[in-house]
Amino acid sequence: MNEHLETNVLIIGSGIAGSSAALILAEAGIDTILISKGKDFSETNTHWAQGGIACLGQNEKAQDFINDILKSGDFINKPSAVEQVVRESRSLVEKILIQKLEIPFSTSNGNYDLAFEAAHSKRRILNIKDMSGKIIQEYFYAYLKKLKKLKILFRHTAIDLLTYPHHSQNPARVYQEPKTIGAYILNQSTKKVIRVFARKVILATGGLSSIFLHSTNPADSCGSGVAMAYNAGTKLAHLEYVQFHPTSLFHKDVDRFLISETIRGEGAKLMNRKGEYFMKKYSSHGDMATRDEVSRAIYEEMIKNDDDYVMLDLASFAKIDVKERFPTIYETCMKVGVDIQKKPIPVVPAAHYSCGGILVGLDGRTSLKNLYAIGEVANAGVHGANRLASVSLLEGLVWGVKSAEDIAKYLDDEKEPYTISEVPEWKYPSPQEELDPALVWQDRVTIKYIMWNYSGIIRTQKRMERAKSDLQYLRHRIIKFYQKTEMTNSIIDLRDSVQTALLVVQAALRNKVSRGAHFIKSTRD
Ligand code: SIN
Repeated sequence: MNEHLETNVLIIGSGIAGSSAALILAEAGIDTILISKGKDFSETNTHWAQGGIACLGQNEKAQDFINDILKSGDFINKPSAVEQVVRESRSLVEKILIQKLEIPFSTSNGNYDLAFEAAHSKRRILNIKDMSGKIIQEYFYAYLKKLKKLKILFRHTAIDLLTYPHHSQNPARVYQEPKTIGAYILNQSTKKVIRVFARKVILATGGLSSIFLHSTNPADSCGSGVAMAYNAGTKLAHLEYVQFHPTSLFHKDVDRFLISETIRGEGAKLMNRKGEYFMKKYSSHGDMATRDEVSRAIYEEMIKNDDDYVMLDLASFAKIDVKERFPTIYETCMKVGVDIQKKPIPVVPAAHYSCGGILVGLDGRTSLKNLYAIGEVANAGVHGANRLASVSLLEGLVWGVKSAEDIAKYLDDEKEPYTISEVPEWKYPSPQEELDPALVWQDRVTIKYIMWNYSGIIRTQKRMERAKSDLQYLRHRIIKFYQKTEMTNSIIDLRDSVQTALLVVQAALRNKVSRGAHFIKSTRD
């Protein structure tokens, strides 16, 4: 059966970036399809974000916020992108999140209750306690599902971008500028692959941190947008800058649950298992140093003392009602027997955020015609070598809006952007082998160990070379397996994980300078 869908805009990914773009496009009367791999909106990085959304304060100088972002990024950020994210912050947060969606940000005495996180020079983070992303995502969904011009498809996974000339059976397409015209999409329920044709495609697929053994991200944050863009020949940049969050809960029964930096913002201090508060030894900013410095310090302490974790002591320093301010963290820790009001929390660093990604301009355009990328999958230049906390939701919002506005302006720039009959339907392998979950699981775990041990918080040339050759071999095997096996979400994630891991390692090998989240230790040290 020749199954396909047609739309003006296809958005792949449903976090704050994809949701913001969908809102602007659908309200502008533009037919839009938004697809999500998840069963609902709860499987995004946005949903898991605890801290909040940084926003320029009423009485604050824009330059102070700009300086904090640049300093955190070790000054390799793109100045115009940093300017854009800061200068648009207040108006877009107010217009979209507060007025349109009516998100109930925390207040006290009639003022927003702003949170503090490392490397910010002042309190400027709007939050809803430690459930900021979850509530933002829920309010978006409640609003978006009512929009007539928007169709939301859950449990749909993008496999490949459809591109000209690559997917055209018309040889004359080679004389035209390469472009995207949609994507092959797996419907996880029917197991069928459909072609979705679109004038413009937006990648808003989120991050890649689950290619590492320890990660604060949902399990399927495996760089799918990066892998698809790479396969389509799109420019990528700075993939080596993977930010590690210093504090995720260390417990055998809980997958690395994020312990928000706002906890240190409320006075908590890191200590080793001998009971020594150690951060002042590593940075004059102590526990509020940048994330890369704190993560490396924890790693060093763990190695020196042969420990699997360090402790985060909130109980001795908190001047707030801990249970009231951090209800999710309190309950999660309580479930594993840690009362954070009384005891320190066992924590380890975990891969958290990709500062690099698909290279885009201020409008979200990539190097491939008709393809946009927004949010964590993109590298707009905001974060440089290391992201300042709570700027990611803001970036998703700003670039979601900017890309949608650009699309609305140029939607009809081509009369006939594609010809459906030129593009082949998906070819299923014949014979088609049944998927063996044990093989997929083993390969995913192998990738995670390689990335954690050879290309993680502290890298060496030797380890990265080893990672590259192991991943090249693994990719070869995985591609063969992928070509013969029935199509499922897990096999697409596996294919994308190995490709993305290799791209991260290759970028890390090319960059010989330690900076921000990319730290190379000389083997003679
Ligand atoms: C946190 O709450 O520590 C995470 C916030 C962020 O990564 O921006």
